[in-house]
Amino acid sequence: MLKIIPSETPLPKMHQYILGAVSPRPIAFASTMDKNGNPNLAPFSFFNAFGSNPPVVIFSPARSGRDNTTKHTLDNIEDTKEVVINIVNYNMVQQMSLTSSPYTKGVNEFIKSGLTPIESELVKPFRVKESFVQFECKLLDIVYTGDKGGAGNIIICEIILMHIDEKILDENGKIDPYKMDHVARMGGDYYTKVIPESIFILPQPKTECGIGVDVLPASIRNSKILTGNNLGQLGSFLAFPTKEEIDSIKDKIINLSEEQIHLLAKNKLDNGEALEGFKMLMHKSV
Ligand SMILES: Cc1cc2nc3c(=O)[nH]c(=O)nc-3n(C[C@H](O)[C@H](O)[C@H](O)COP(=O)(O)O)c2cc1C
Repeated sequence: MLKIIPSETPLPKMHQYILGAVSPRPIAFASTMDKNGNPNLAPFSFFNAFGSNPPVVIFSPARSGRDNTTKHTLDNIEDTKEVVINIVNYNMVQQMSLTSSPYTKGVNEFIKSGLTPIESELVKPFRVKESFVQFECKLLDIVYTGDKGGAGNIIICEIILMHIDEKILDENGKIDPYKMDHVARMGGDYYTKVIPESIFILPQPKTECGIGVDVLPASIRNSKILTGNNLGQLGSFLAFPTKEEIDSIKDKIINLSEEQIHLLAKNKLDNGEALEGFKMLMHKSV
């Protein structure tokens, strides 16, 4: 493994290692206003949500790694304590990218990008009409992580009003990931777009605990065929298959070698028949 010692690594290189590793990142499209009422719009991918009660989002307009200047977004929030964070979808990536140009203070990036400003209800900065989700936010706190180029200025905001375009909701009123047209930033100039093929479902073990990989028989844990994901699937079961369940599949594997059983079980695990695969793998235990 390559070892990176931050204090001995040039800033641009360190920056790119972090961007490449912490990736993909959602993009906060931050709309602010200076104290004279001039709008400003810029994207920030050091961004995420950090609580729902109160609803808190955090992003970081960092000090420039080139000349240690601060971003207009930070200056405006320090002055006015307000920001609207708009979620970026694929249809606006080009215009979003354009707003990240180093325009001089006072230049209105809504006008430069051709994106549409619409009035907010509780704060002064405009919302971006083209965005499917917009958060009107009040500043809670700013954490300054340093005073050198590349240092973060972590803006902690509370969402005081959220706007959601109904067209991204499913029939139960929840945000439908297939309709969000999500886009995210990666390292360098790379982005990623969420497409149906890249979405998968993996239920979170919220209230009950899986048995764990550690209690699986050694023949399963040390299998040359099963992957880490397969072991995770098996460890996520709440209980081992019963003797009756294992007996019920024995005739399907009776003439197979151990390797063939693992291959067949892996196929079941990878194709939505995890319990069937688990029963096969446990054939020796009864
Ligand atoms: C997708 C994307 C994400 C970005 N993320 C950040 C970020 O997290 N922090 C940052 O300081 N700059 C980030 N930038 C660069 C800023 O958008 C850029 O410096 C912009 O000019 C700042 O505008 P402002 O001075 O009007 O606030 C990003 C640029 C793009 C295109």
